[in-house]
Amino acid sequence: MQKKIIVFGATGNLGNRITRELRQRGATVEAIVRPTTDPEKTKTLQQSGAVIQEVDLNDVNALAQTMVGSHCVVSALAGLGEVIIDLQKKILEAALQAGVPRFIPSDFCTDYTDLVPGENRNFDLRREFRAHLDGMPIQASSVFNGAFADILQYNTPILNQKDKSIGYWGDKADWKLDFTTMDDTAAFTAEVALDDQSPRDLQIASFQVSPRDLWQDVKVATDQEFRLQSLASLEDFAAFIKKQRADYPAGEGELYAKWQQGQYMYSMFTTHHTQLANERYPNLTWTNSLDFIQSFLR
Ligand SMILES: NC(=O)c1ccc[n+]([C@@H]2O[C@H](COP(=O)([O-])OP(=O)(O)OC[C@H]3O[C@@H](n4cnc5c(N)ncnc54)[C@H](OP(=O)(O)O)[C@@H]3O)[C@@H](O)[C@H]2O)c1
Repeated sequence: MQKKIIVFGATGNLGNRITRELRQRGATVEAIVRPTTDPEKTKTLQQSGAVIQEVDLNDVNALAQTMVGSHCVVSALAGLGEVIIDLQKKILEAALQAGVPRFIPSDFCTDYTDLVPGENRNFDLRREFRAHLDGMPIQASSVFNGAFADILQYNTPILNQKDKSIGYWGDKADWKLDFTTMDDTAAFTAEVALDDQSPRDLQIASFQVSPRDLWQDVKVATDQEFRLQSLASLEDFAAFIKKQRADYPAGEGELYAKWQQGQYMYSMFTTHHTQLANERYPNLTWTNSLDFIQSFLR
């Protein structure tokens, strides 16, 4: 029997890819979208073979009705507290009501379970939902993919093509950073959604590279020697982010405020994945750092 998987956030960057990967594995996918979702996006989803269910997401009973008979709920929603905590709680309540056995929350970040609360606003939201989820009679699995490798293309201080620089904090030129492409994350998540034995937490990375490794890959890809530089101590970076946050209260309502981006980078330099689950599904292949860098930098 085909497994039925419910996907929330299926119109998004990651959710779309997860839906595609689930369909490729023969699953029945029901994408639950809100009535205000752009019809163009739902049309694309429908073409990928997903069944679209337009539901008032505040209506737990209606949500539960659509979920009956499904094996797993995957949330790839993006947002602040009203999405990651409030909406995911409603979805979870509906999943419990419908008797769905498994739930994958919208974590899709660095494994924050060892990090200090208060250091990363978006991780704190996930931590709060996680505590709620773990108190419920449902089998949960979180996918921790580090940073999406795609961010390497966007001129962050870690890799800046314009300045031809590669930056790090403190003395961490050799500290390994976790990067996973969105496609690899989606393929892995589809496997997890179909795997009833999946554990609670799964750390993955398409590649783990230090700033110095990145420097080497960029040299091979472009024949150029970027500047490899320490930007500040980690303590100074933390203080800078704190001040940036205090100076910009409007960022509290923004998903990726500048200071939030700083918090992500700070987290990347304070924790990394040590127990990769990459080999759990032997049919998967993983993008390597050089191939990825060569895909946008020549
Ligand atoms: N590790 C990393 O480097 C990294 C980077 C980026 C994202 N992420 C994570 O990956 C996950 C997916 O992000 P993404 O970039 O794919 O997101 P995205 O492209 O912005 O898509 C967001 C999805 O959430 C839905 N959504 C947003 N607000 C909603 C609301 N209030 N009610 C109902 N649905 C709502 C959107 O639906 P509509 O189409 O209806 O708007 C859309 O399907 C998130 O957990 C995000 O934090 C991780």
